Amino acid sequence: MMDTLAPHAARMQATSLRALFDGDPDRFARFSFRMDDLLVDCSKEKIDAAALDALLAMARDAGIEAAREAMVSGAKWNLTEDRAVLHMALRGGAEAPEGDDVAGTLDRFLAFAEDVRAGRYGAASGPFTDIVNIGIGGSDLGPAMVARALEPDRDGPCLHFVSNVDSAHLTDTLKALDPARTLVIVASKTFTTMETMMNARTARDWLRAAVGEEAGRHMAAVSTNIDGAAEFGIEASRVFGFWDWVGGRYSVWSAIGLPVAIGIGAEDFRAFLAGAEAMDRHFRETPPERNLPVILALIGIWRRNAMGWPTVALIPYDQRLERFPAYVQQLDMESNGKRTARGGGAVGTATGPVIWGEPGTNAQHSFFQLLHQGTDVVPVDFIAAATSRDGASDHHTALLANCLAQGQALAFGRSEEEVRARMAGADPAEIDRLAPHRTFPGDRPSTTILHRRLDPFALGRLIALFEHKVFVQGVIWDIDSFDQWGVELGKELATALLPVLNGEAGPDPDASTAGLIAAIGEYDP
Ligand code: F6P
Repeated sequence: MMDTLAPHAARMQATSLRALFDGDPDRFARFSFRMDDLLVDCSKEKIDAAALDALLAMARDAGIEAAREAMVSGAKWNLTEDRAVLHMALRGGAEAPEGDDVAGTLDRFLAFAEDVRAGRYGAASGPFTDIVNIGIGGSDLGPAMVARALEPDRDGPCLHFVSNVDSAHLTDTLKALDPARTLVIVASKTFTTMETMMNARTARDWLRAAVGEEAGRHMAAVSTNIDGAAEFGIEASRVFGFWDWVGGRYSVWSAIGLPVAIGIGAEDFRAFLAGAEAMDRHFRETPPERNLPVILALIGIWRRNAMGWPTVALIPYDQRLERFPAYVQQLDMESNGKRTARGGGAVGTATGPVIWGEPGTNAQHSFFQLLHQGTDVVPVDFIAAATSRDGASDHHTALLANCLAQGQALAFGRSEEEVRARMAGADPAEIDRLAPHRTFPGDRPSTTILHRRLDPFALGRLIALFEHKVFVQGVIWDIDSFDQWGVELGKELATALLPVLNGEAGPDPDASTAGLIAAIGEYDP
């Protein structure tokens, strides 16, 4: 299927972004796409109309529309786990399976959130001042990212997130907190994840040591494993469920969002869901050639399969989106980092790229050097809000100027001729010496995602945009975007190594691992 892109890629390789812009005064209008105040500008991608048409034809041939409707109608789209994929139902974008009370569960956890916020549900000594969410992967990254992004909306208790089994994470988080005024939420879809259960037990001990019998009052849980939460000792009234048709990395819309709801309140949480639902509608109702998730997906396919670029830098020019790259890493790489096709054979093409990134402008002062002058082309996705939550200020104008400047510099660079012209008047030998170093090749692609401001609605919409982009790419690559078998082997091996590290009998590890275990033992006091 990717063969159809080859002639277009050859044509694009033989031209430059400068030439593409020079040859088409309408390029921005032609390659930028809108949904209300959300704008996706792909004009700085190395693409032309014929290439985009070929991509759209490929998407149609792959059956993206039928796949989308199959997912929405509750088909077992997650083939290898035999599960429906219905996270859209959590925000009204699809119907939940009969009997699964999505609205009632939402009402229940939002009511609990409001009770905590108002102090109606609190500690013996007063309202909770701090919430510690213990979870990992999808049970951490979503709520942690959203809580950080929506800090201006937080008028409830302070939110903290502990994920790593490294005790440093829990210890350093709890150090500043008063157990008598802290609520711990154990968030785990399965309620069996090693890291989360270990952290949950340690946090429970911390509470017990401080408030004794009252400790139970300081704990809530979110899980599909209601029995597991009960066995852990969390009272049923504070256990909030969800369903197996919600993948971990798609679960922020469920009760996994409880800490966020406690922070920002029910109304703002519903606005967050409404933003996602607006994107669901756009995704379902807009023709592919104007459909933002489809367009973003196709740009990604173009970069990866036609141009052969293996990574993507995701750079929010928004400090409050500092966790967004990490969130999208799980969403995209755990979904589409697959080498086996849905039918069980090998995929015939490269699939999910490596996603990485940090917020601008900080990133400019670290790795942007390589993006501009390194030997590899790294496509960049910029995200920016036109207005700041903190009011108009020089800061925001400077932030936007930097964001736009990076896209410009990547696309158009600075030729050696231009460098020499700018150095005119300097010692000619010095010009010869420095001009190659000061030259920017340009012709490096980027997409800019712009919206009016980062509020709950806009954030919900933005996350859903990425979710659907990942889905479309999975359909085109013909992989199961909703399983994650690649994380299992490491989990199993860690469980097997635990007794060996404790000096007990266990399976003989390979020579390198045995050597490392022996070396670790030598450090013992
Ligand atoms: O890392 C694998 C994974 O299963 C993720 O998909 C998931 O988000 C994470 O572990 C946490 O799982 P749980 O919510 O069941 O603790």
